[in-house]
Amino acid sequence: MTPLLHQIADLSIPKLASQFGTPLYVYDAKVIVERIGHLASFDVTRYAQKACSNIAILDLARRNNVVVDAVSAGEIHRALAAGYKPGFDDPPQIVYTADIFDRETLDMVVDLDIPVNCGSPDMISQYGERAPGKTITLRINPGFGHGHSQKTNTGGEQSKHGIWHQQIEECIERTAEHKVTIAGLHMHIGSGTDMEHLSQVSAAMERAALAVGSSITSISAGGGLPTPYRDGDDLVDIAAYFEQWDATRGRLAQQFGHHVSLEIEPGRYLAAESGYLIAEVRAVKQMGGNVYYLLDAGFNNLARPIMYGSYHPMSVCPANGDTERPDRQVVVGGPLCESGDIFTQEDGGFVSSRSLPDAKIGDFVVIGCAGAYGYTMSSNYNSKPLCAEVLIQDGQAQLIRERQSLEDLTRLERIP
Ligand code: LLP
Repeated sequence: MTPLLHQIADLSIPKLASQFGTPLYVYDAKVIVERIGHLASFDVTRYAQKACSNIAILDLARRNNVVVDAVSAGEIHRALAAGYKPGFDDPPQIVYTADIFDRETLDMVVDLDIPVNCGSPDMISQYGERAPGKTITLRINPGFGHGHSQKTNTGGEQSKHGIWHQQIEECIERTAEHKVTIAGLHMHIGSGTDMEHLSQVSAAMERAALAVGSSITSISAGGGLPTPYRDGDDLVDIAAYFEQWDATRGRLAQQFGHHVSLEIEPGRYLAAESGYLIAEVRAVKQMGGNVYYLLDAGFNNLARPIMYGSYHPMSVCPANGDTERPDRQVVVGGPLCESGDIFTQEDGGFVSSRSLPDAKIGDFVVIGCAGAYGYTMSSNYNSKPLCAEVLIQDGQAQLIRERQSLEDLTRLERIP
């Protein structure tokens, strides 16, 4: 029998649901802090906040000596709201990484003095014209990549990301022309990749750093560390990964005659397992041979299954406190007016089923490993208000984002 789930971080799920409503994202701060600790051997952990960017989560990261990556003006705004400071500290607390500057963001990084990690030669020129004399870092596409889905593979020529590894010389010329200095290199080959692919990156980094030379004072291994979504998936061997990068950094430091700082830029690794999406079962229907549990959460709340066919663990929490329920084979879906609104689906949209405990209307389905790319990819599709977020810290559940109201949905709209 599949175990039932009654609590998250020792707090009752039905109580959380009645206090804050459903659908509801709940994060366990302890998991994030533990994960930050796993990466302590790296000189700098830079959180890729796109995974989960609530300012309370950023504040938690900041209080645990984690600096932050920002990929938009909005993410810079969030970092500042969470107490990160702009400027060229060592390490900088906020770095803007992207393949373009939109006009608003270029103004923002120049006016606020936010360091930039350039993912295209054009970014070098556009920034250099506005901020001559500054240091920059370059995001290099090493010519290969890998992700849990082709949509999250960020290396190779099928990817739009980074500066092509054979264009480093051209970029050095651009920096000289615009009087900026390349102080660091960064490589991120994909998200949810595996150690086999990740372990190829350090050699590519070494070649690229040697091509730039001794202006390099930091290298970033990027993000992409996988996390276990399925029973039996293991956590990656961080010690072995660090050793490999440390050796690369050591050789570069020796060559350059100065210290080279080693950064890592995880998103999922810090946030995924801390987060749960609690949804209420609102209908149980038999459709031919399939039984459907229909929840009050849909792909407006968690888009990873419809986007990538991603697997998320699921548990049932009985509202009446039952401790045993027989299993049944079910399809789990949401409320949206679209057939793809199914949490148990495979890549390509094929509906699959899963063995879960028997659930009745009013019970809860809890979707696990939802902390990364869960809330941040949610939407107002079907005019569904964005749901609330709660952080559990020191045994207390605190609201870190209110549920949107119906008025919020139309607040910015006008009938001319
Ligand atoms: N650094 C850069 C430059 C990135 O583009 C990303 C992710 C990360 C770090 C963090 O990657 P992570 O450690 O989380 O794997 N929505 C997709 C993931 C897209 C990630 C895009 N970039 C998903 O739900 O799996």
